[in-house]
Amino acid sequence: MDAYRCLICGETYMGKGKPSNCPFCGAKAVYIVEADRWKDENMDMELSDASKKNLERSLQLEVDNAPFYRDAMARTSDVELQGIFKYLSKVEAEHASVIRKMLKCEVPQPGREESQASDDDKKNLTTAHAREVAASTLYKKFAGDAIEPRVRKVFTALSEIESDHIDIEGRLLARR
Ligand SMILES: [Fe+2]
Ligand SMILES: [Fe+2]
Repeated sequence: MDAYRCLICGETYMGKGKPSNCPFCGAKAVYIVEADRWKDENMDMELSDASKKNLERSLQLEVDNAPFYRDAMARTSDVELQGIFKYLSKVEAEHASVIRKMLKCEVPQPGREESQASDDDKKNLTTAHAREVAASTLYKKFAGDAIEPRVRKVFTALSEIESDHIDIEGRLLARR
């Protein structure tokens, strides 16, 4: 087994060969390195006021999405959706952690309404899909706004990951 580490979330993956995506945050393989080549890119990072504001807005989105997916998982009897919602809840919680570490702040409280799912799977998928579209677009813009290489890299990676979620949810919606 080999050890690999993700430059976005910092988590370690053990296995034979590099995974196509980080199992923890979903980042693409290009952000995964051999564990001995990993470095903490948040070290000595100064954030501009603009990046700080964009990161704070993103943190709240991620903090709301994790319990939303967890609630959607708890409410569905569809085994496939249970697995996918569980995965997405963990990934969004990891994104919140990535952003929190950059801001060096506490995790804010999730919004009560935003974190609540419905009993209707299709409605949850539609809501999730719209949220992922909004997040992916916003993160792409924030990546372009960022003057700090680390902030640009994280927003680019997050935008790509949310875009993967759009694909998964789009396919699940098409079958309903
Ligand atoms: Fe990761
Ligand atoms: Fe996310």
